[in-house]
Amino acid sequence: MSRESELRNNVYDAIQAYCDEQHNFSFNAEKPVVRLHEPTFGADEINAAVDCMLSTHVTMGKKVKAFEREFSDAFGWRHGVMNNSGSSANLLAIAVLANPLTEDALKPGDEVIVPALSWSTTVWPLIQCGLIPVIVDIDPDTLNIDPNEIERAIGPKTRGVMPVHIYGNPCDMEALIEICQRKNLVLIEDCCEALGAYYDGSAVGTFGRVGTFSFYYSHHMTTLEGGICVTNDTGLAESMRILRAHGWIRETENKQVWLDKYPDVDERFLFVNVGYNLRATELQGAMGSVQLPKLAGFVDIRRKNAEWFRRELSQVENFFEFQAETPKGYHSYFGFPMKVAIGAPFDVKALRENLEKNGIETRPIICGNIALQPAMALYEHRTVGNLAHATDVMNRGFSFGNHQAIDADARNYILEKIANFVRHVS
Ligand SMILES: Cc1ncc(COP(=O)(O)O)c(C=O)c1O
Repeated sequence: MSRESELRNNVYDAIQAYCDEQHNFSFNAEKPVVRLHEPTFGADEINAAVDCMLSTHVTMGKKVKAFEREFSDAFGWRHGVMNNSGSSANLLAIAVLANPLTEDALKPGDEVIVPALSWSTTVWPLIQCGLIPVIVDIDPDTLNIDPNEIERAIGPKTRGVMPVHIYGNPCDMEALIEICQRKNLVLIEDCCEALGAYYDGSAVGTFGRVGTFSFYYSHHMTTLEGGICVTNDTGLAESMRILRAHGWIRETENKQVWLDKYPDVDERFLFVNVGYNLRATELQGAMGSVQLPKLAGFVDIRRKNAEWFRRELSQVENFFEFQAETPKGYHSYFGFPMKVAIGAPFDVKALRENLEKNGIETRPIICGNIALQPAMALYEHRTVGNLAHATDVMNRGFSFGNHQAIDADARNYILEKIANFVRHVS
């Protein structure tokens, strides 16, 4: 064995030993805590990242490329363009669709329809690219964008729709595709909460022109921070590689096109468009490759937990409403969201406080009605109708953790605390 391999193995073994001894994220009845998320990564992922550091190949390169290929192949997409976050993926997706080199590009002042229940950085990239967000209400059962509200919102300046698969519950893609085709609208899927989700047998992501995913620490699988744009459009993928990195051709797959076009500029430093720096690191790519084969198993646990929670909690009086799964959808359960029913003898705040007091972390469902967030008042946008269902989610909704480390003991603990609370107040 070479000296290098020997040293490296020592590092790996030490990391493995540390994780074996120090990382135990399962529920402990003596110190009961149920977090919104627990790390999905362990010694294998840490070693993959450390390996990049030891090799000193840390900036975007072969490992990111390999992960892009593996991730795309796993779900049947042609291209993946990895970024440093899901927010960056959303920014890149919108930036490329609004770029003058893109065919039929979105223009400043064009409108894109988004659900009122969405994440901040679903909407911000639209504003950042000079587009006008049009905010429409959700279906109160699935919590996803309501196709009827999209129809209602379409005006002369509407050019696109950007649905969010809320908590991994796929949107009604059949209806969305039909509207987008009939009205000639570009469809961009924000799948940042929907790793491992399918609609009608196909992974969410490329029902439209481009889709985005997040690998943030708390998601179904992680690269710590990280994201990816997926598309079946080769030209769009190539443009995203340019916009992702300074407007540079360095990471393009077909450099020759550009070199032939601009033979007088140093080919190593040829900039053919505007751009950002949204690149991922090699550490992120390496971690992604180790995490990816584990994703389906993690999703399976989340789905089984969700089924259990729905069944057991519906027996605790009639005080809760659960997210309805979309027909034809395969839900990947980013968390377990629910609403306190109207007429329940308690409000969501009291319940959340009680759960938190008992060590069960909770959170609002995404950012509630985005139109009610203060930032929206600073920028031009349009709202359609009163967005009552999204506001309702903000007022009556919450979620608790439903992740790969939630086991039978954790589930029973959550159920017991909710049942005790309900018994006490009713
Ligand atoms: C719907 C949605 N879009 C975008 C993002 C942004 O992803 P990131 O946190 O990786 O920037 C999130 C984050 O969870 C999200 O829930």
